[in-house]
Amino acid sequence: MKDLTIKIFADGANKDDMIAASRSKSVDGFTTNPSLMRKAGVADYEKFAKEVLAEIKDVFISFEVFSDEIDQMEREARKIASWGKNIHVKIPVQNTKGIFTGPLIKKLHAEGIPLNITAILTVEQVKNVASCLRGDVPSIVSVFAGRVADTGVDPISAMKECAKILKPLPKCELLWASSREVLNIIQAQDCGCHIITVTNDIIKKLSMLGKDLNELSLDTVKTFFEDSTKSGFKI
Ligand code: G3P
Repeated sequence: MKDLTIKIFADGANKDDMIAASRSKSVDGFTTNPSLMRKAGVADYEKFAKEVLAEIKDVFISFEVFSDEIDQMEREARKIASWGKNIHVKIPVQNTKGIFTGPLIKKLHAEGIPLNITAILTVEQVKNVASCLRGDVPSIVSVFAGRVADTGVDPISAMKECAKILKPLPKCELLWASSREVLNIIQAQDCGCHIITVTNDIIKKLSMLGKDLNELSLDTVKTFFEDSTKSGFKI
């Protein structure tokens, strides 16, 4: 089992899970998005963010703008950035009308605001985003490799290509987003990604990394045996 050098960020918006992960120092950072916040029942964006930021101070956390209008996105980005020094402001690569957010990314990035460019699915989008970024300002480029895989396409070669495109930008980190299984952590690292986001379900399975397969086979049959015993099966 090779050493893990990739940073693991927790993806979610359940405050208790986030605080627990922060206290146990089990992850290197956090990401949220509007859908995860809705799923977690967050009604007041700012209150949620500030409560989380009161606990998570040592590592980066991403909060996403949610307007569909570029001017309003900019206002939201500035407000979010003002809440703390450990924030990446998430800007979607385009709005719902398909308008590339490049000019806004370029503007905020040039001012030194840490950004996380999100909802990226193609190598072409990564090329466009890279053209808006500077090598001396920190940024994250989030490619939804899991959603690519959901379409039946293997994301590996595209992710390697994205890593190559971003290589000339030393302070830009490639993030493998929407992971689906523990294997994705190894794949992301092998592709040259700096960060992978994982859900709480995957965090719970991290102890499986590198587990001996004979031992796992034994665990599996033990579970079958225990469950059939508990059910009192007879044939
Ligand atoms: O937060 C971005 C990304 O990780 C969301 O993943 O599962 O909605 O494709 P998913």
